Amino acid sequence: MSAPLPHPAPRPPIAAPLWLLAELTYRCPLHCAFCYNPINYANERAELSTAQWIDVMRQARKLGAAQLGFSGGEPLVRDDLEELVGEGRRLGFYTNLITSGVGLTETRLARLKELGLDHIQLSFQDSTKEMNDFLSSTKTFDLKSRVARLIKQYDYPMVLNVVLHRYNLDHVGRIIDMALEMGVDYLELANTQYYGWGLANRAHLMPTREQVVRAEEVVNQYRARIGNKVRILFVVPDYFEERPKACMNGWGSVFLGIAPDGTALPCHAARSLPGIAFPNVLDYSVHDIWYASGAFNRYRGDAWMKSPCRDCPEKSKDFGGCRCQAYALTGDAANADPVCAKSPRHAEVQAIVMQAQHAQNSHPAVAQPQAKPILFRTDANSRRMGNDGKPGDGRSEAADEPR
Ligand code: FES
Repeated sequence: MSAPLPHPAPRPPIAAPLWLLAELTYRCPLHCAFCYNPINYANERAELSTAQWIDVMRQARKLGAAQLGFSGGEPLVRDDLEELVGEGRRLGFYTNLITSGVGLTETRLARLKELGLDHIQLSFQDSTKEMNDFLSSTKTFDLKSRVARLIKQYDYPMVLNVVLHRYNLDHVGRIIDMALEMGVDYLELANTQYYGWGLANRAHLMPTREQVVRAEEVVNQYRARIGNKVRILFVVPDYFEERPKACMNGWGSVFLGIAPDGTALPCHAARSLPGIAFPNVLDYSVHDIWYASGAFNRYRGDAWMKSPCRDCPEKSKDFGGCRCQAYALTGDAANADPVCAKSPRHAEVQAIVMQAQHAQNSHPAVAQPQAKPILFRTDANSRRMGNDGKPGDGRSEAADEPR
């Protein structure tokens, strides 16, 4: 490990991270068209060893992190998941497995339960087998349904996550029915975020405003009917909002993500930002990464903000929105997130929404003459896109600069 980074110049106190997200691997049996993993993930094969992950968990816990998520890719492809969960619990973390369900056999689930895993979040792509399997480019619907029953059988709170977009927003009622049949306790209906593969497939996935409005109405009707029996979270796609979301509750504020190779990230999608040298846990302590690295301090607080965020009374509420979205849409991560109506680039977001309106008759099974085919998250596509587009990977940049 290199020498510790010097502490930054005096600045407002930095709170400890609350969340440690361990992205154990980019390997995944699914090929979702909206995956938030980096487009060039196939070039990033390195993974921390069991001992290295345990060391990261210990350091983060010592710093104050309380929630530990295991994700990927698919975390179940790691044979040492059980060991990591056991250690996470022993350290006192609240542990959460974020999974497609592929690989969650009864034997593994029983062992995870024994080790104290607190929470499982299972993803489905749709309520219909056809669409679920189309969107993940796999035949996994029946398997996921079996896993959902197992999760219930092992007395876990049933937490279901379904990513929404043009192809399944009209199925929201059926998705809720499916969730109710499964005995779900919490249903997260999260509209696609346009980073990574979602951004590459935006022309296919962006819904129309009517779809969003209708789906929200359906959700509200169910809420009125079933009351508090099941909590349904419906996250409106922020391209349709007038104000940006407080992404990650502010950069470097509560969230510490560790990519499979040990790169530390202030958000899942941060690797898409060029010119930032994201530090690696193999080179620096978690403490120094969190408090002293240039990457984590870059968009903390509001000193980095430009107009109109700098003078906006809402800046302490939304932190200028999402840095990754600002970069994806304007080419500068320090700009206001253009989903904000105060952004001078907001009209471009409105134009993207309008394009979705014109393409409303498209169907996944019918090739649109003007559209490129949907891009599934496969190793071959990743290698091709990675070589063409080369999203920033941090480690190839100059050494991390302390502030
Ligand atoms: Fe990276 Fe919002 S996803 S800051």
